[in-house]
Amino acid sequence: MGATMGTARGAGKQSPTDWTKTSWHNFTALQQPNWPDTETYDQVLANLSRLPPLVFAGEIRELKAMLAKAVVGDAFLLQGGDCSEDFSQVTAPKIRETLKVLLQMAVILTYAGGKPVIKLGRIAGQFAKPRSADTEMVNGVELSSYRGDMVNSPDPVMAARIPDPNRILQGYNMAASTLNLLRAYTRGGFAALHRVHAWNQEFVVQSPMGRSYERLAKQISQAIQFMETIGIATDNPQINQAQFFTSHEALLLGYEEALTREDSTASGGWYDCSAHMLWIGERTRQVDGAHVEFLRGVLNPIGVKIGPDYDLENVKRLITALNPDNEAGRLTLITRLGMKKVEKVLPPLLREMKKEGFNIVWSCDPMHANTYTAESGHKTRNFNDILSEITCFFETHWAEGTIPGGIHLEMTGDNVTECTGGARNIVDAELANNYMTTCDPRLNAEQSLEVAFQIADMIRS
Ligand code: PEP
Ligand code: CO
Repeated sequence: MGATMGTARGAGKQSPTDWTKTSWHNFTALQQPNWPDTETYDQVLANLSRLPPLVFAGEIRELKAMLAKAVVGDAFLLQGGDCSEDFSQVTAPKIRETLKVLLQMAVILTYAGGKPVIKLGRIAGQFAKPRSADTEMVNGVELSSYRGDMVNSPDPVMAARIPDPNRILQGYNMAASTLNLLRAYTRGGFAALHRVHAWNQEFVVQSPMGRSYERLAKQISQAIQFMETIGIATDNPQINQAQFFTSHEALLLGYEEALTREDSTASGGWYDCSAHMLWIGERTRQVDGAHVEFLRGVLNPIGVKIGPDYDLENVKRLITALNPDNEAGRLTLITRLGMKKVEKVLPPLLREMKKEGFNIVWSCDPMHANTYTAESGHKTRNFNDILSEITCFFETHWAEGTIPGGIHLEMTGDNVTECTGGARNIVDAELANNYMTTCDPRLNAEQSLEVAFQIADMIRS
């Protein structure tokens, strides 16, 4: 989706011959809901497999080519969005605000780093969640865990928690309408660099981050004006459109299988057309598990989350299974180690993978291992902990001679109070003011900009 349409780059690559889109059925799939109504479930998936794909193989190859650049430090990956998208929040304002912040962050990072920023949303399909327990206590009642809007409802009543297969189809429709609007915004002028000022939200403009952003936006406007004055055309896609890609955790394998299609324009090859990029979560990345089996056969770029308890040999086996040809851009390892452990556990991982010569986009998820429960009972993350993991990620890569290639954030364009700290110093007692997430706490718009400015300071070339 973007300035240049899909090219034939990478076309002709084939899926492994010992793989089919159903071969994962022979492996153990963790974290799958217990659909009580299997007849409806089968019917929904049959319907889904006849519906149009959400993305096109050419776009997927384009993203992979850009990620190949991030492997060697010629591009930087910015991946962000909700922990869990909420059906009730699939609205134009919500999508627009998230896109705005991602565009702002991309501008900040591009300007500082002097290299293209790959804009990849956790959006248009991030509807299913792995959970550490099958049940949870809500107001003293034990309920089945909420597993994402594509499975059940977060409402704290027993009936709402029963997995409903119709939600899968609803999720597909929500993803399609989200993607449609994103395509309209990014292609139809909204993302034009001429409008760089307009991406600053009203509630951010007067904040320190908003003011820093305004200064940067002014410099960019002046540069564009200068180009126009001396007669350089600015009516080109580079200035007027943004390339924007989508991603989600490939958790519900039935959904992913139903949207997996053989490429009709090149010489075959299977693509999971539910999103441009899919990742495997920390809880489902077993080398002999169904998620790895499924994803090894589709030709999309794949991410894998790596937590602090990783086993080096196991990570190597995973890489070999998912990227046997060591294709650059195919594999992103998203480390989520926690600010306390990152300094100790990241270096051996980087050293070993460097020794093996693996082509990897290294991305930092500073969110998932820094979660704690505040006294108020809210699940939260502290801004300084997030920043501290990011800083350590960059410094460790530089020390080891590897490339810090990207960042993976849970964030939103809204003015939520879910993570503590940041320029406005949100304190525990304020979390209740606007705590909207149905799953993990996200950075709000201002905190997201602050992260971008902090990274900009580190990478300024
Ligand atoms: C997530 O990205 O929302 C998630 C569940 O992450 P992880 O698999 O790293 O815990
Ligand atoms: Co999360």
